[in-house]
This record gives sequence, structure tokens and C-alpha cells, in this order.
Amino acid sequence: MTDFREDGAAALEWAARYLERLPELPVLAQVKPGELTAQLPESAPEEPETFADVLHDLEELLLPALTNWQSPRFFSYFAVTSSEPAILAELLAATLNQVAIAWRASPASTELELVVADWVRQLLGLPDGWHGHIEDTASTSTLAALIVARHVTGRNVVVCSEHAHSSVEKDARMLGMELRKVPVDDELRMRVDGYDLDDVAAVVATVGTTSFASVDPVRELAERARAAGAWVHVDAAYAGSSWICEEERWSADGVALADSLTVNPHKWLLVPMDCSLVWTARPDEWREAFSLVPEYLRTSDDAYALSEYGPALGRRFRSLKLWAVLRCYGAQRLRAIVREHIRLADLFAGWVEESLGWELVAPQRFSLVCFRRVGTDEDNERLLERANASGEIFITHTKLDGRYVLRLAVGNARTTEADVRRAWDVLNKEAER
Ligand SMILES: Cc1ncc(COP(=O)(O)O)c(C=O)c1O
Repeated sequence: MTDFREDGAAALEWAARYLERLPELPVLAQVKPGELTAQLPESAPEEPETFADVLHDLEELLLPALTNWQSPRFFSYFAVTSSEPAILAELLAATLNQVAIAWRASPASTELELVVADWVRQLLGLPDGWHGHIEDTASTSTLAALIVARHVTGRNVVVCSEHAHSSVEKDARMLGMELRKVPVDDELRMRVDGYDLDDVAAVVATVGTTSFASVDPVRELAERARAAGAWVHVDAAYAGSSWICEEERWSADGVALADSLTVNPHKWLLVPMDCSLVWTARPDEWREAFSLVPEYLRTSDDAYALSEYGPALGRRFRSLKLWAVLRCYGAQRLRAIVREHIRLADLFAGWVEESLGWELVAPQRFSLVCFRRVGTDEDNERLLERANASGEIFITHTKLDGRYVLRLAVGNARTTEADVRRAWDVLNKEAER
């Protein structure tokens, strides 16, 4: 059983110590599949254990099996941060356990979600009047957008770039919609013509593709799609947060023409999983696609239910952590962090560019560097494996035209220039071995 105050203090102490120890912990979990399972009991205990037992096993058993996403030398996928204000807000959200199925079920959660979605809309320079709410992930945000697109157009085809995130394909598959992938130009941008849009329900444009952070020509795509009566959805799950800085808004060109947009604060706005914002310029049609209020949820008050805007009925109090971050950092500090990440990525790209034996393989965008060691794909694959096995850094790969590409993504608020320098040193040391 637990003594809430005493165990709470111990849990907070463990959390604070964990954050302090991050620079020393291996970034990638250094365990084999099944190693943890073998150490855990096969069934749940009959008799209660203490929370101290749980914390003990967290330290002894789970910690070695953690890939430390909070590490300043986590450069994989898109690197993320769970900031201290957001961690505390998660504790409070679980304490309050608001299940915002309808306005009266949680006026605070319902209204705060709308307010913070609107705060972020303003910070990113998005159009007035857009309706925003929070889904768990961009996969769900895009799923919702495709549901609305089909509802509005009565069509069943989705078009996206060959480099769009796999969630677009998965969402289309789950909905039984046909997906057409469009090739890219030499800057890895989705081509605007060469294909028909007559029967298309949704065109999904990406700002900041997962592999290369490339930016589709949203304006041209949106203009064409609108003329053809298709819904325009923009996936800016990663890069959208950069619009908090005015100088990054070049990549938002044309986004104001979109029907919907998703940006993940759980990627680059210091909020832990899960928090995906989705806005729409057409809230009435969006709501029409989802609204289904059963008798047992009907109320006499002028209810506004966010469950009428997406697939889920029950909703977590996700806005609390985003609210805490926006308030405790303030827009200026958030801008400074995003700018620093972009600077660090540029710095790393510069080292790659000026060093013999290394090459950049995609135009430099945001805080992601795509590069490779001059040599074979196997050389690069082995290099990545060795660098990750060192525990010092964690990077991932992708492929471009069949060639193996290394990716270094800067996105953790604790990452410093020294961490990026260490990544470069580790890669060079492993490459020379
Ligand atoms: C461009 C883009 N879209 C969508 C996603 C999916 O995000 P989520 O994990 O929130 O579903 C990702 C994940 O990295 C992404 O990079």
C-alpha cells in the first residue's frame, strides 16, 4: 500500500535524481529482448506490496531496460523533452483524473483545452478563428482529418508524398481509403502536378517529413486541392513548433489555406507524450463528422463536448501540461530553445560538410541532419550500430533512393553544444576503427 505523502516525496526524489543522472546513463537500453521479462514475476502479487518496492524495482530492473529519451545525447527519430513543469502537471492531471466526456464532466478540462489550443495557434501565427483541440498522437489527428475529409467530400482517396509519415498510410488503410503516393522533386518535396485530384478526398502535405524534414509546397498543393474540392490536411507534427520563431515561418507558407493542421507539442514543445494539437478551419463540418451524443450524455446546459471533435469519448486532462509549459517557460524561452536546437543542427551539418569522409545527403532543415560516411551502406550500418552500442549517443537511420542515411535529430532541451560535439567525436572514433 502507499503513504501518499511519503511515497510521493520518494517518487519525486527518484524523478529528480533520474534527471540529474541522465548525462551518465547509456542512451540506448543495453539489454537484449526478453531480458527484463525474465526478471519479472509471472503473475501479479496476491498480497499488497509497498510503493517503495515499486521504486526499488524501477531502479534495479526497469532502469537498465530504459532507452533514455530524456538524455541530452538522444538524437534519434525526433528527439523530445519532458520538461519539469509538464512532469508535475502530469502528476496533477492523474490526481484530478478528469474524464472530459462532456462539458459538465469537466468544465475546466474542456475549456482549458480550447484556451491552450488557441494560445498555441497565436504563437505559431495561424489564422484567427481556427478551432483547435488535443488528440493523443498525430496518427490520431490525421485519422480524424481523413474521417472528416471523407465525410465532407464523399470521396475515398488520399494523396500524400512518398515521404509522408507512415501514419497517413496506416490511417487510410484503417479507414478502407485508397492511398496514392506522389513522388518528390530533388529537394524531397511532394510534386504538385502529374496526377489527378478529381476523385480525391484529402491531400496531406507534410512540413518536416520524418526521414528528411523536407517541406512540401503547401501553398501550391492547397490551391490545387481546393480547386478540385479536396480537403487539405497539413502534417507538421514535428516542424510546426518551429513557427513559434518568426524566421521559421517560411515553412508555414500556404498553411493558412489548409482545412486542418496537426502539430505535436510532445515532439518539440517540451511536453511529454501524449499531446497532439489539431486545428481546423471548418469546425462545423468537423463536428458533424464525429458528433454522436447518446441519451445518457445529454445535458440541459448548453454543452460543448470535445468528444464531438474526435474518435475518443473519454479524454485525459492533456491541456494541463501544455498550459504549465507555456506559462512556466513563456514564449521567449521556448523560442530560444527551438533556435538553439536549429543552431546545433547547423553546427553539426557544418562539421559534416567540411570533413573529408563525410557527406550531407539532404537539404538542411530545422534541427535534423541527414548525413553518411563515404563508403558502403554496410559501413554506415555498422557505424550506427557501434555508435549506439557505446551507450554514448543514440541515432537512427533512414534510406534515400535505397542508400543508407544516418540521422541526427536535435530536440532535447538539455542538449548542449558539448553533447553535439561528443556525438561527432563518437561517430569519428567509430568510423576510424
Ligand atoms: C511528420 C510526422 N507525422 C506524424 C508522426 C506520428 O506522430 P505520432 O507518434 O504522434 O503519431 C510523426 C512521428 O514522428 C512524424 O514525424
